[in-house]
Amino acid sequence: MPLLFKGIKELRNHIKSLRKEQGASVGFVPTMGYLHEGHRELIKSSKMQNDITVLSVFVNPTQFGEGEDYERYPRDLDRDLAVCEEEGVDVVFAPTVEKMYPEGFSTEVVVKGIEDVLEGKFRPGHFRGVATVVLKLLNIVNPDRAYFGEKDYQQLKLIERMVSDLNLPVEIVPVPVVREKDGLAYSSRNTYLSPEERESALSIYRSFLLAKRLIEKGNREADNIKVAIREFIMSHPKVKKIDYVEITDENLNPKDIIENGDRILVAVWVGNTRLIDNWKVEV
Ligand code: PAF
Repeated sequence: MPLLFKGIKELRNHIKSLRKEQGASVGFVPTMGYLHEGHRELIKSSKMQNDITVLSVFVNPTQFGEGEDYERYPRDLDRDLAVCEEEGVDVVFAPTVEKMYPEGFSTEVVVKGIEDVLEGKFRPGHFRGVATVVLKLLNIVNPDRAYFGEKDYQQLKLIERMVSDLNLPVEIVPVPVVREKDGLAYSSRNTYLSPEERESALSIYRSFLLAKRLIEKGNREADNIKVAIREFIMSHPKVKKIDYVEITDENLNPKDIIENGDRILVAVWVGNTRLIDNWKVEV
């Protein structure tokens, strides 16, 4: 079983002594729990590159907007600990909200620009919550490397920017999107989907395959590809609406003509569940 810490001081002391006594390198996997295959890949990458792997489980209230799914977000620490044991995680950090945000807490990390586009437009305040909690977690764990999935591509770019701007002594390691056999990207929110909704949600990955075919045939105009993706996804019965379909370069700058290495990013409501996904253009 991994060692479980709920207190910040205790975790810090433990990591400090591992570093001092064993000269251990530390890999860190921040999560909101309800671990799935995507998290397992992050853990595997960390285990390959570090002596010790620390994983945090914290459903961070400040990154959820009003009316979002903070209350119903799936939580099951025992299940998470079992996954961590299977994957060989050494230390789990599962703080309470009160420990992370004690009375009087009033600091916010703002990564300008990135927080205003794509997800940021539809989830105001979300990325301030993410940047703030990730900076806190990095300060608490003090890892050599931290692992982030490309599934949340904009989040990854935000964290990279913050780490570079603030000269944080940590290497951010991106890990590619992990998909189920039929292409659906792993997400804790997939648990909200009914079987019919799940079927409609597959349109997201299939729209990437459609885009790939069109680009391969020489259709490189972003506007045309975006329309094709929208029409395809919207033709599925359980899809309620699309928040955005965007095509950007690897740094999230919008593109007119698509090139290899660009990203197609989407946010889609399937029933009452909001799913995000992205695909790297490689044709
Ligand atoms: O990607 C997530 O699960 C969360 O946004 C993170 C990075 C753990 C911060 O709460």
